[in-house]
Amino acid sequence: MQSDPRLIAALDFPTVEAAKKAVEEIGDAVAYYKVGMELYYAAGNDMIRFLKEHDKKVFLDLKLQDIPNTVASALKVEARLGVDMINVHAVGGKKMMEAAAKAVKETAEELGVERPKLIAVTILTSMDEEQFADLNYKNTIPEQVVALAKLAKAAGLDGVVASPKEAAAIREACGPDFLIVTPGVRPAGSALDDQSRVTTPAQAFANGSTHIVVGRPIMKAENRKQAAEAIVEEIKTIC
Ligand code: C5P
Repeated sequence: MQSDPRLIAALDFPTVEAAKKAVEEIGDAVAYYKVGMELYYAAGNDMIRFLKEHDKKVFLDLKLQDIPNTVASALKVEARLGVDMINVHAVGGKKMMEAAAKAVKETAEELGVERPKLIAVTILTSMDEEQFADLNYKNTIPEQVVALAKLAKAAGLDGVVASPKEAAAIREACGPDFLIVTPGVRPAGSALDDQSRVTTPAQAFANGSTHIVVGRPIMKAENRKQAAEAIVEEIKTIC
């Protein structure tokens, strides 16, 4: 079965061997993979090369946040890896995001390659109301997510990572071309794990998500390929 590039499967594995095995098992059912901190710190560019050799798109999810100069310098390195999407934390602020966008654009121009999409993490999908209250923000979670999404857009970013529950409000605030990448997606009947603000894949797209990120419901399934195919089928029925 052909995959759907709006499905990004999270390769949350501690070793390159485990991640490569998953990619081989899943085959054509997934065309886009997310490499996060665990796998990147363990396997580094070996994993990126492997995915590219297998014609997969790559979202390198390292969620950078530091002073603008440090983030810009790190993103110049990331932009040289040939990945398709990279990200920073929106709470790093507008100047940090502007420096990030400039660094990615300049690096892609210098190399003559397509610019990786740069998106910002808003509020982690594992964050519930009680934990959020501890942070003492004046906004509610949905208000804060929309405020951070608008800030990311104003800084020149391509989109955000956010819960599918907030996708509709972000779409409304940030317009039709803004990317909304949503983890916290669970096919009906699957375990929530540590996610709080979740929807089904179909509901995420109905809410305005452009991509969904799915980890454990695929990677911990007895048959990973079938689990991915079931999500692709579900997506096809609604759009
Ligand atoms: O296993 P699960 O489907 O919950 O995996 C979701 C993936 O998305 C994980 O790799 C997690 O780090 C990531 N993520 C998230 N919430 C965010 C940003 C990224 O769950 N706001």
